[in-house]
Amino acid sequence: MALLPQFLEELRRRVSISDVVGRRVRLNRRGLQATGLCPFHNEKSPSFHVYEGPDEPHYHCFGCGAHGDVITFVMETEGMQFRDAVEKLAGEAGLEIPRDNPEARERAERQDTLAGVMELSAKFFESQLGGSAGRAGLDYFRRRGLTPETMKRFRLGFAPDGFEALKSKLAKENIPEAVSLESGMLVKNEETGRVYDRFRGRVMFPIMDPKGRVIAFGGRALGDEKPKYLNSPETPLFHKGRTLYNLNHAQKPARDKNEIIVVEGYMDVIALAEGGFPHAVAPLGTALTEDHIQLLWRFSQEPILCFDGDNAGQKAAARGVERVLPLLKPGLSLRFAWLPQGQDPDDLIRGPANGGGAGGGAGAMRQILEKAQPLVDVLWTETLAGRTLDTPERRSGFRRDLLGAINRIADKGVMEDYRREMLNRLDQMFANPAQARAGQVQTRPQNAQRFGRFANIRQPGSPFQHLDGGGEAARRGTAGVKRLPYEVLLAVLINHPDLLHRHGEAAALIPIPDRQLDKLKGALLDLASRHPDLEAGDLKNHLMDLGFSGPIETLVRHTGTIRFALPSAGLAQAEAGLLHVMAILREPEIEVELEAAARALEEDMSQENLDRFQAAQQQKLEVESRRRDLDLAETESLFKS
Ligand code: UTP
Ligand code: MN
Repeated sequence: MALLPQFLEELRRRVSISDVVGRRVRLNRRGLQATGLCPFHNEKSPSFHVYEGPDEPHYHCFGCGAHGDVITFVMETEGMQFRDAVEKLAGEAGLEIPRDNPEARERAERQDTLAGVMELSAKFFESQLGGSAGRAGLDYFRRRGLTPETMKRFRLGFAPDGFEALKSKLAKENIPEAVSLESGMLVKNEETGRVYDRFRGRVMFPIMDPKGRVIAFGGRALGDEKPKYLNSPETPLFHKGRTLYNLNHAQKPARDKNEIIVVEGYMDVIALAEGGFPHAVAPLGTALTEDHIQLLWRFSQEPILCFDGDNAGQKAAARGVERVLPLLKPGLSLRFAWLPQGQDPDDLIRGPANGGGAGGGAGAMRQILEKAQPLVDVLWTETLAGRTLDTPERRSGFRRDLLGAINRIADKGVMEDYRREMLNRLDQMFANPAQARAGQVQTRPQNAQRFGRFANIRQPGSPFQHLDGGGEAARRGTAGVKRLPYEVLLAVLINHPDLLHRHGEAAALIPIPDRQLDKLKGALLDLASRHPDLEAGDLKNHLMDLGFSGPIETLVRHTGTIRFALPSAGLAQAEAGLLHVMAILREPEIEVELEAAARALEEDMSQENLDRFQAAQQQKLEVESRRRDLDLAETESLFKS
């Protein structure tokens, strides 16, 4: 049975190739691009690239020439036939494979017919704008400063006042009434049975899909009538939550600039295009959906959302923050640009320029875009808004809400980075030592008993202390601290730099309570990130050049009997040992966090606290399963005195 090309197109669009590849290959993601070790040939340095662009997502290996799309990837790596690979991917994406049977054909044909109705309607409205019936519409657009070229480019039009203008046009073209109704262009009064034009006496904005096909309309009243804008209903062609106005024009300039601007309205998009910003889009009178955000990320790693600086704008921005947090991925985020109070981009662009500062025009818009705030700043200020932090409880509350929001970030790496950043900011804000003491949340008595053999390496004080670098133990110096587990950790990483790319982030989160070793770790991670292709030998030489020959020699001596830490160990063996050591080293902190999370949940059964508790529980389970799976006597012995 043949598969419909429309369906394959949809499948390739809906499935993220880097997610699929990422299950087999450890990928280093940078927005639309990702790199990793090629799964099709043996290599030490990554020459395998995955491109998640809007037009043709694909993978390519510069080493062996392997090349293909998400379907070929599954075929090649899982030894599947085309059909089976498609079924697997469709199942995962929750897409039903339409059978190429008479009904499916009919549905495809009906979509084509609907597209035909939309195109006919667009042509009709355009032609009206040029004629006498459309005079009022043309005047309206002129008053708003649009040039004839713009009107043409956006295919603006006019729907005459009267109930049967479009209706008779469609009838003349032999479009069955049922089809016109399904297209949303005509409506039926259920009581009287009368069928008439949905859009009457309005200027018309056709909404196109990315290929430029008309799929819906927005119609604006000429005066103060309500509603100001009337939009097409959802139809088989038009899904509001997945559509962005002007994406058809914006996609190319957006990709070229790696920038895409999101504004509120049709007229904003059009004014921006006239002002030299062709890469602006708008949702259609709805808040941004998850689908919108995923779509935007196909064009730019940090789409810029524009908001009015007033209350409504702040609220809309807060909703954007809410929506995006769970979706964040390394490299992918949003930025927030703030317009002057009470102005939308259309007002601003058309306002008089006055050189610098408060004026309008394209220059002012450019400045506002350049000053766009990163998400992390908006999250901080939104959470801080309206609070005074003059008591410990209030500071605690602020910290709790901030960390609660961060717990909603699904990506572990991004979440950890956010935590670290926010804890830094909190520390800086409460830098006054008296205040800091008072404001510290979740301090707890030492509990050496509870942490048994980890008592001497666990961090006192805040459960998050491990996130701010060396931590208290590091400042205390090395007395009474076991070095060996940390030396093993570093030895594995130095001898197997490939593991640095896979587990460097996790290793970065483990504070080493020995200043010299901690510095060595820092240098190692830094080198690995700047020179991803260094081989073990070169890496060691670099570190020696940086003055670490002392600690490295000691570490080599101390770890000489640990097989998985030796250069001769296989990668899998080294990795297993590394994960085991890391899991055990992180365990005390996870325990502390779990207890703090449990307490927070007892105090306040909020969703945030529940999420935090579950995240901590999950981490604990992971450590425990790690222990079970890999009960290496060798590793365990490291922790015995
Ligand atoms: P605004 O009310 O901010 O209007 O609606 P605007 O874009 O500045 O329009 P002008 O400048 O007065 O012509 C922003 C967007 O919200 C949707 C439309 O998509 C509009 O562009 N909207 C607004 C509706 O869908 N229905 C409405 O009644 C109003
Ligand atoms: Mn406006």
